[in-house]
Amino acid sequence: MIKAKEFARRRRDLMSMMGKNSIAILTAAPEKVRSKDTHFPYRQDSNFQYLTGFPEPEAVLALIPGREQGEFVLFCRDRDPKREIWDGYRAGPAGAVSDYDADDAFPIGDIDDILPGLIEGRERVYYAVGKDQAFDAHLMAWVNDIRAQARTGAVPPGEFVDLDHLVHEMRLFKSAAEISLMRKSAKIAARAHCRAMTLSKPGLYEYQLQAEIEHEFATSGASFPAYSSIVGGGVNACVLHYVENRCQLADGDLVLIDAGCELEHYASDITRTFPVNGTFSAAQKAIYEVVLAAQLAAIEAAVEGNHWDDPHLATVRVITEGLVDLGLLKGKVDDLIENKAYFDFYMHRAGHWLGMDVHDEGDYKVDHQWRLLERGMVMTVEPGIYIAPDNMQVAKRWRGIGIRIEDDIAITAKGTEVLTSGVPKTVAEIEALMAG
Ligand code: GLY
Ligand code: MN
Ligand code: MN
Repeated sequence: MIKAKEFARRRRDLMSMMGKNSIAILTAAPEKVRSKDTHFPYRQDSNFQYLTGFPEPEAVLALIPGREQGEFVLFCRDRDPKREIWDGYRAGPAGAVSDYDADDAFPIGDIDDILPGLIEGRERVYYAVGKDQAFDAHLMAWVNDIRAQARTGAVPPGEFVDLDHLVHEMRLFKSAAEISLMRKSAKIAARAHCRAMTLSKPGLYEYQLQAEIEHEFATSGASFPAYSSIVGGGVNACVLHYVENRCQLADGDLVLIDAGCELEHYASDITRTFPVNGTFSAAQKAIYEVVLAAQLAAIEAAVEGNHWDDPHLATVRVITEGLVDLGLLKGKVDDLIENKAYFDFYMHRAGHWLGMDVHDEGDYKVDHQWRLLERGMVMTVEPGIYIAPDNMQVAKRWRGIGIRIEDDIAITAKGTEVLTSGVPKTVAEIEALMAG
C-alpha cells in the first residue's frame, strides 16, 4: 500500500521542482460509457492517482507551492446521499480533507468561481495540454477571464509548461513501497501463469486459459488485468497483440500467454509460451532455446550503468545468431544485424518501462542519447521469434511457431531483481510443472 506520507512526499517533490509562483492543475480520469446506463470499471488517471490517491472521477487537483492557506487543493463531487445509494460512496470535500490530506477542498460545481482566483497572479501553469479538450477549453476561458480583468490589476499567467514531463520522470523511479507492490503484482501474475500451464490440455479454448489466468488475478485481489490478456494457440501466437482468444487449442501446438494484473494501480506483465500438451516438439524446442538465451542475455545486460538499448542489442545478437545456426537466416551475423534481417522474425523491441501503466511513462532518451539504467527503474524483458505461417523462405517445420518470453525486472541497490521468477521458463522446468 502507498501510505499518505508517500503521497505527501510526491506532492512536495513536484512542487519543489515547479518553484514558487506557479500552479499545477490535473484532472481525474472521466467515467466512460460501456453500454447504455453502464460504465467501464472506473480507473483513475495514473498521474492523478500518483499525486493524490483520490479514487473518484469528476475531480480536479491544484498544487500551489507556497500558498499560505494550503498548497494542496482538491475539487470533487459533493456528498449526495440519494446518488450514493445508486452509485456508491463519495468522499465529498470534507472527506477529501480528512481522508486524503487536502489542505482545502471544494465542490466541483464551484470550480468556475474558485480556480481562476487560484490561477490569478501565478506566472506559470503546469498542465498537460491536449489530453482533455473540454478541460483545455475551460482552462483557457478562466485565463481569458483573468486577462479581461487586467485593468483592475489582475495578473494572468505568462507561461504554460508541460506537467507530464515532471511527473513522468518522478514515476520512472520507483520507491521501496512501489517496488514492493510491483513484487506482489508480479507474484500474482506468476501464479496465474503456473495455473494456466498446469490446467492446459488439447481441446480447451483459448478463452478457458484466459479464465484460469484471470481467476487467479481476481481471487488474489488484483482488481483488473493490466491489459487485455493475450492467449494465442498455434499460429495465433504470431499476432503480437492477439486478444480474440476464441480458438481451440490443438495437440502439438504451443500456446503463448501474455497476461499481467494490476494490483493497487501497479502492473505486472508476463509472457510464457508452452506446449498445449505439456511436451515441446524438437522444432519448438529449438526456437524456444534461442528466445530463452536472448532473454537471459538481455537480463544480464539490464544493469545499472548500462544504457536502455543494451538489453535490446543483446537480444538482437543472440536471436540473429540462433536463426543462422538453425538455418532460418543465411549470411554473416554482423551483416544480418546491420541489415535488420532478423526483423522478419523479431519485429518489436526487447521491453518497456513498467509501473502504474503497463507501458509506463518515462523518457527512453535523454539529450537524444539512450538513457542510462538507474536504481528504481522497472522494465520488462521480452524478446520473441515469430515465424509467419506463410513464410515460404523457411522449412515447413518452422512455420507458424511464435514464442515470446517476458519477465519484469527491477534495478535495485542489490542488483537486478527478476520480479516474475515465480513462473518457470526453461523447457525442463515447464515440462516438469505440466507433467506434475
Ligand atoms: N502486454 C503488452 C506488452 O507486453 O507490451
Ligand atoms: Mn506483455
Ligand atoms: Mn510487455
